Amino acid sequence: MPTVVVVGSQWGDEGKGKITDYLALEADVVVRYQGGPNAGHTVVVNDEVFQLHLLPSGILYPEKLSVIGNGVVVDPEVLVDEIQRLQARGRDTGGLRISARAHLIMPYHRILDALQEESMGERKIGTTLKGVGPAYMDKSARVGIRVGDLLEPDVFTQRLESNLRDKNRVFKYVYGKQTLDAQPIIESYLQAGKFLKPYITDTAVLVNKAIRQGKKVLFEGAQGTLLDLDHGTYPYVTSSHPVAGGACIGAGVGPTKIDEIIGVVKAYTSRVGDGPFPTELLDETGDWIRETGHEYGVTTGRPRRIGWLDLMMINYAAVLNGLTGIALTRLDVLCGLDKVKVAYAYKRDGQVITEFPASFKELAECEPVYEEFSGWPEIDPAAKSLDDLHPNARRFVEFISHKTGLEPAIVSLGRGREESLTLRDLFQ
Ligand code: IMO
Ligand code: MG
Repeated sequence: MPTVVVVGSQWGDEGKGKITDYLALEADVVVRYQGGPNAGHTVVVNDEVFQLHLLPSGILYPEKLSVIGNGVVVDPEVLVDEIQRLQARGRDTGGLRISARAHLIMPYHRILDALQEESMGERKIGTTLKGVGPAYMDKSARVGIRVGDLLEPDVFTQRLESNLRDKNRVFKYVYGKQTLDAQPIIESYLQAGKFLKPYITDTAVLVNKAIRQGKKVLFEGAQGTLLDLDHGTYPYVTSSHPVAGGACIGAGVGPTKIDEIIGVVKAYTSRVGDGPFPTELLDETGDWIRETGHEYGVTTGRPRRIGWLDLMMINYAAVLNGLTGIALTRLDVLCGLDKVKVAYAYKRDGQVITEFPASFKELAECEPVYEEFSGWPEIDPAAKSLDDLHPNARRFVEFISHKTGLEPAIVSLGRGREESLTLRDLFQ
């Protein structure tokens, strides 16, 4: 039975929350597999807006299982707050399951994130300051503390004290900052552990069992391909693996168990944080798209950098993820523009480049080669086929398919759940 991975094909903020929520209607289980509270997923249900950071977007369907997999880094304070906020809005969170193997973001990770950024000055990454990078660093260094440790006070206390000895040395001698006391951290984390206990389990067992039973499992990507630690625009990336392969590691399922991999593609490009951006629009059109599309970070409130759609990037994402289709979002935001451009190649030193460059210096020197389209005045939110779209919008969609070799499986027609056009049933 089908399992579907939804992945970001750009630099994050492609509309993964909306697409996941829409596909979750049919799924039995929704799994977040990597990243942490650096994600900001917006879901609109009957005009009610939900902004999720750690909770999988499936959480808005009470009867489904929503899994936070082992690959996610969990800040218990953020998670408890998110659960309580949903409960206060009358939402049932009983379907949540959290991997005992997921690593914890600790208070010192958040502080280190800020200190590292500060000390890099001009060369800073522009992180979300949620402690995500330092938490993954500790995981790789094999000194991380895991969600399951919250349920074993002795183990938690011993690991925390040992970590804190090291971190406090760094705070004091490297950065000349105040050290942290263990006790308040122990108290607040064990308290959060009590609250989270009913949700904590071995989620890999659960997800594999669901797959064996023929249930429909949806893997919800966070961040995007170009933010991947290995494949993204390093060093301006996150510290984990948003690509589809990350779903296997971060949820504990074998690669042979994945059937469909859908890349979410926004009709234009956005990026938060620093780093090269070939199709960036530093003009009024960029400002107009930012305002019309409310392109401000859900997690940090930062204005997002805006540019035209870049198919060099999408083709790169298609290969790295092994995409089987795309979900096109935010065509509606571009309504009313006279002209819409799409980059389909780069030029560097007068030469056409056909592969996305590995070096960020090279990428910064690339000039996009554009195809220009006449704009479309509107997108019918109730369109039932591509033929119902304005001819100019249809040409834009067809050009994307032509240049990527990928058909859209879903076209988003607006923010709401129902404003979506399905062209292929992914769970068939
Ligand atoms: P969603 O899931 C957009 C970016 C940050 C920064 C870099 C590293 O909403 O698409 P980090 O805090 O992860 O160490 O920051 O990655 N970044 C995102 N940008 N959307 C996201 O998530 C992001 N998560 C991280 O802005 O450039
Ligand atoms: Mg975001």
